[in-house]
Amino acid sequence: MAAPGTLDRYREKWREAPRGSDTDGRVFSSDLLALDDDLLLARWDEMAARRYGGELGWLGPLYFDTFRDRRVVELGSGLGFDGLRFAAHGAHWTFADIVPDNLAVIRRIAALKGLGERVRYHLIGDDLSFAALPYNYDAIWVFGSIHHVPFEIARREALDVLGHLKPGGRWMELVYPRERWLREGAPPFDQWGKLTDGERTPWAEWHDIEKVRRRLFPAPMRTILDFEFCAHNYRWFDFQYAGDKPFRANDYDVAALSRSVDLSAEPFVLSKGARRRPFWSRELSFACPPGLFADAVRVDLFAPLRTLGDATGVAVDLEETVSDGAVGIGLVDADGAYLPAAEAVLESGPASRLATLRAVEGGRLAVLAFRNLCAGRRSSFVVHRAVMRAAN
Ligand SMILES: C[S@@+](CC[C@H](N)C(=O)[O-])C[C@H]1O[C@@H](n2cnc3c(N)ncnc32)[C@H](O)[C@@H]1O
Repeated sequence: MAAPGTLDRYREKWREAPRGSDTDGRVFSSDLLALDDDLLLARWDEMAARRYGGELGWLGPLYFDTFRDRRVVELGSGLGFDGLRFAAHGAHWTFADIVPDNLAVIRRIAALKGLGERVRYHLIGDDLSFAALPYNYDAIWVFGSIHHVPFEIARREALDVLGHLKPGGRWMELVYPRERWLREGAPPFDQWGKLTDGERTPWAEWHDIEKVRRRLFPAPMRTILDFEFCAHNYRWFDFQYAGDKPFRANDYDVAALSRSVDLSAEPFVLSKGARRRPFWSRELSFACPPGLFADAVRVDLFAPLRTLGDATGVAVDLEETVSDGAVGIGLVDADGAYLPAAEAVLESGPASRLATLRAVEGGRLAVLAFRNLCAGRRSSFVVHRAVMRAAN
């Protein structure tokens, strides 16, 4: 339960919801409610047409079939452009928002469009609770909403609503990527919102896939889609909840899943020699030998894996800067095979980059390997942080 008033400043901002397209600005829902039915419907249809015909138009063709006859709850539904479109294509949609007037606009539009039977509403209170809603939803749709409150608030909210998702259900979310935040000067999150969503915006926080996973931890989530679009301004995630029963945090061994090992003290070996010393304890710079796929550094994972105990899945979180070329960071199993899905490819750039490598069968891992992925030249990089942890 969050303190009373927790959401007040966000509620005050979001009385003003986005129009159809990102370039169209925002409108106060109370101003829309003051219109008569015909005018309200005409205004809403005009904004919705921009949404469906613009940079987000692909959402419909991608998900109409997925949602037909399914039950979806949306966090932060704004003026309802997505939900009413899917409801018109057969979905049963629950609109949840922190602003009563936003929900009131959707209620009127749904009635005017004859969709009242297919939709329901939930006003999110400071308790961040979804207890009033049924269980067994097929999907949770989160379109640019809970990244507008600080991580810990969003996490409480997300874990509560996650309990209403059925096993195999989906979590779909649009976020702003870290690369956009870096490009826009890496401002504090209480300032960044002014750049992304207008002067009155109290908060906007970047997310990558690992941050969304951390927000949903310890729920096991399988990645279905993960891609950036619109000139790196947005990132889309589609996860499947991989638990075999509805999510309850208490069902998980959170202590075991939270175990981690800092890899900085582990010995590393350079490709051309048996030089063994602790890994990047002083933010060591490495240079990959020239030649595509040339090995640069290998780190033995035997000891850290033993520390993690019998974790089936493991993940390695890295932060590094690549100053030249491009570097591949991958996991190698006990037979010396590079795990195909587990390589992160980082190209050179001024900012540090975050990457996470995941392996489902942690017990078979042997080595963390860095190699040159740039033909015809050397690649160089610095590793700032590397942590290995259990992962579900
Ligand atoms: C940028 S708008 C996006 C609206 C809509 N999803 C769209 O794409 O047009 C953010 C919406 O999220 C809502 N919101 C903000 N914080 C929220 C929170 N913590 N939980 C749920 N909704 C929230 C706002 O009221 C607003 O309707």
